[in-house]
Amino acid sequence: MSKYLVTSALPYANGKLHIGHLAGAYLPADIYVRFLKLCENEVIYVCGTDEHGAPISIRAEVEGKTPQEIVEFYHQNILDSFTAVDIEFDNFSGTARAEHHKLSQEFFTELLSAHKVTTKTTKQAYCEHDNRFLPDRYVEGDCPHCGAAGARGDQCDACGKLIDANLLINPICKICGHTPVIKDTKHWFLDLPAFADELKEWLENKPNWKDNVKRFILSWIEEGLIERAITRDINWGVPVPLEEGADKVLYVWFDAPIGYISSTIEWAKKIGKPDVWKEYWFDENTKLIHFIGKDNIPFHAIIWPAILMGQSKKYVLPWDIPANEYLNLEGDKISTSRDYAVWVEDFVKDFDSDLLRFVLAANAPESKDADFSWKDFQNLVNNSLSNVLGNLANRVFAFAQKNLSATVQRPKEPNRLITQDFIDSVYNDYSEFRVRKVTKAIFDFARDGNKYFNDQEPWVTIKTDISTTQDVIFYCADLLRVISIILFPIMPKSMKRLRMMMKMNETGFGWKDIWQVPEVIEIGEFERLFRKIEDAEIDEQIKRLEGKVKNS
Ligand code: 2FM
Ligand code: ZN
Repeated sequence: MSKYLVTSALPYANGKLHIGHLAGAYLPADIYVRFLKLCENEVIYVCGTDEHGAPISIRAEVEGKTPQEIVEFYHQNILDSFTAVDIEFDNFSGTARAEHHKLSQEFFTELLSAHKVTTKTTKQAYCEHDNRFLPDRYVEGDCPHCGAAGARGDQCDACGKLIDANLLINPICKICGHTPVIKDTKHWFLDLPAFADELKEWLENKPNWKDNVKRFILSWIEEGLIERAITRDINWGVPVPLEEGADKVLYVWFDAPIGYISSTIEWAKKIGKPDVWKEYWFDENTKLIHFIGKDNIPFHAIIWPAILMGQSKKYVLPWDIPANEYLNLEGDKISTSRDYAVWVEDFVKDFDSDLLRFVLAANAPESKDADFSWKDFQNLVNNSLSNVLGNLANRVFAFAQKNLSATVQRPKEPNRLITQDFIDSVYNDYSEFRVRKVTKAIFDFARDGNKYFNDQEPWVTIKTDISTTQDVIFYCADLLRVISIILFPIMPKSMKRLRMMMKMNETGFGWKDIWQVPEVIEIGEFERLFRKIEDAEIDEQIKRLEGKVKNS
């Protein structure tokens, strides 16, 4: 059996987590990992915060804090949000940690000795007032294309064009407002063209990857691979392990994916088996799966595999990269800077976290951008969760308690509501990351349960035929038992509650238990599985968002 090593993109430690993040790289991974664990696979799920890069150091300067203080705050804040929605990592690390620095430097040194890194002298804005080189986006001026004021050194928001920071008109340093000078600076470049053949051959063997990912990679390769700078002139990051580069750091996108490995190493130490990480990273049969948002595709499908290929130790390469599209909010782009978002920490104050997991799964941005609207949220919760699944559980349990002493025996005939085809198709959809389809299939299944209950009219038959009636109730309860297993990866908390109501074990069950039909199903104390969401609650959420758009 193969081992699975699942990762989610390391979130930058400079902002809170919103529902768009969850829908893209975290919830789909958590669902997949829970599914793999249900099927008794050997799997670990690692992540951590991405703690380097210019935005973090500049933010620290603006707030009068150290970068370390910023990343410590957001590391905890982000982890708390994940915990609140039951995203369960085996390890959650951070890239500012010593082990990660050491490993990233080793990766760089290895590429250097393999002659896969070149050097070039380039020109970069330098602020003589602050005594530092300025990252592109920290120089502002008039756009050389359209003349608009306030263009950043990487892009002009007015005309949308990419800019060479050295060509900005009337440039100023964004930190102090002085005019920067242009200075020579030496940088190290990853020789991507040297990996072109090996990359192409490797990518040709990935026919099952999602179309959006394949399209993206193809266009990158067609444009021609170029050398990419992997060092930067800032002082927050992994120091370049060379005397000559002592005042520079590795580019954040060079060290970030190495965080997947350093997080695995940290995990191995934590569980007291410090070498066990090697069984994942140095075994070519490991299924290494990176869940990411679509903006991260080139880094994971081209640059990162090249970095791995350039090492003397034979690291496993990604087996799949299920990238998701974006989630919009009420038809608009989610924006951290405008505070136009639904923050996870706010959501869980008002609603059960499983409701968010369910709605984001049912409406996952798997092959195109999706939209979250509060009205849709209310409709889905009230119509699918409450009216279909919640209602089925409620009527079956209430009926059993009132008429059958809360206990039903397994009938002689197997349950025809549950077919091998149905279970296999849910299994395949989970295996191939089609969570939208899984959600729909399970709700159609619950709907069939409701229809069966209606058609059989147990409230009529109980008067004349107790035996048939108890069979009907058993089949319905058994269908709920199966749902408690197959919906568990998406709604873990609610499914545990559902199992508790049927006096079943809350942990330790698995996919194979689907076919272990119990001899007796006993109904314990129960309550409504899902409450209805009132119009007033939704209106309040919508108002909050409108306020934000207007204030921007
Ligand atoms: O886009 C981002 O949020 C990056 N911090 C993702 C990094 S993914 C990985 F390479 F670490
Ligand atoms: Zn300055």
